[in-house]
Amino acid sequence: MIGRASAPASSANLGPGFDVLALALELRCVVNATVADDWFVTEPGRDRVPRDDELVVRAARAVTDSPLNIEIDSAVPIGRGLGSSAALTTATVAAAARAIGDELELADLFARVSGLEGHADNAAAAVYGGLVASADGRPVRLRVHPSLSIVVGVPEAKLSTGTARSVLPESVSVEGLVGAVARTVAFVAGMRDGDPSVLRLARGEDIHEVARASLSPVTGRLIEAAIDAGAHHAAWSGAGPSALAVVDETAVEAVCDAMTEVLDGEGEVLTPEIAADGVV
Ligand code: HSE
Repeated sequence: MIGRASAPASSANLGPGFDVLALALELRCVVNATVADDWFVTEPGRDRVPRDDELVVRAARAVTDSPLNIEIDSAVPIGRGLGSSAALTTATVAAAARAIGDELELADLFARVSGLEGHADNAAAAVYGGLVASADGRPVRLRVHPSLSIVVGVPEAKLSTGTARSVLPESVSVEGLVGAVARTVAFVAGMRDGDPSVLRLARGEDIHEVARASLSPVTGRLIEAAIDAGAHHAAWSGAGPSALAVVDETAVEAVCDAMTEVLDGEGEVLTPEIAADGVV
């Protein structure tokens, strides 16, 4: 039996919501899994017998000890802050379960994927879709106004989440915390109502984005260029180096042009739909 599943890319943090908020994007990782005698992974340009410690094997083993033949077809850029590992883990866990005739409840899938990821934000978006907050291990689904579109600037250079987390501050000031809470509330309300004046209050981030700035200077330049070109909000996408902008349909072209100019041929600009569905 072939177990097939797909899960979307995602942009975590969205500025103020560090390790809490994420938005699912319609760039999918598709996984087909079949019970086999030995492990084998088929992926464009990387067919291989996988190592035991590879993410895809660890994800499959979260549901079965049986070796699997796994085919991966992913449109999610890797190492760019777009939740490629959460999309791969989610699709693999769901596909492996289906390969052995099992269908996991979403809550169960979410618990397994966030355990493998180590933080729940991208996992929640990959499993549930849309805009979602993770609160104490539970997903809280949030509304997005239909007038809002997304533009993502994706630099060519990769940045690993491990490196980006290694520079995080050990503690934050009360002032920093108050700012993050206020901006998070403004972001969630602005996304719900599509209100530019409220979304504007969510701009800026002085905890993780400041700490990470020197790891990818182009990310800050993408954010500034997007805001100058008319975006309502722009932020590091997850651990970077991509930057995500929230825009009205009328500003999509100007924001794309501005980000393209910043990237100067070293990267690409994407305009993914928000993925209403998570894993399917
Ligand atoms: N919230 C995480 C971080 C997302 O910023 O480190 C990366 O996967």
